[in-house]
Amino acid sequence: MTQRGQSIVLIGFMGVGKSSTGAALAQKTGLPCFDTDVMVSDRLCMSVPEVFNALGEEAFRNTETEILVELSDAENCIIVTGGGIVLRPNNVEILRRLGRVVCLEADEETLLRRISGSAIRPLLQTEDPRATLLELSRVRDSLYQKAADICLDTSCLTPDEAADAVLESVAQL
Ligand code: S3P
Repeated sequence: MTQRGQSIVLIGFMGVGKSSTGAALAQKTGLPCFDTDVMVSDRLCMSVPEVFNALGEEAFRNTETEILVELSDAENCIIVTGGGIVLRPNNVEILRRLGRVVCLEADEETLLRRISGSAIRPLLQTEDPRATLLELSRVRDSLYQKAADICLDTSCLTPDEAADAVLESVAQL
């Protein structure tokens, strides 16, 4: 069986609260937090929407994988990922080797409320964000489920509460 690390890895759809929960987890545990979106953006010196516009989604995905490979030796940290990281099976393998994979979830209305009016998510800049969200979820839900050790609904939780729930669930594994 593959040896698994001690890190906590957050996956899940856009708007589930991965970044805010990751920040709360880092604060509570004192562990360093790595956010793959921030790292891609820093690497390419562009915001995520700028990467999608200027270089395209494939270039974003390639850099995301490159960053993840570089993170694969990290120990004892919090890793926050972009919502599409599960699209590549090799990414999922690395995430599971890094530690416990926690999939954050939220109901449709909560997701739409959290992501509406925000221009930071290029994939949802469509005429009908709800339909796009549903279509992306249809494709991705089983990938999130397969990758995760734990799934946790954050719809009614603050980031602080979500972080406590993550720590509690991880401790019970
Ligand atoms: C994406 C999610 C985004 C970001 C990029 C693509 C996706 O991250 O990586 O816009 O494919 O779901 P968040 O999940 O943090 O919004």
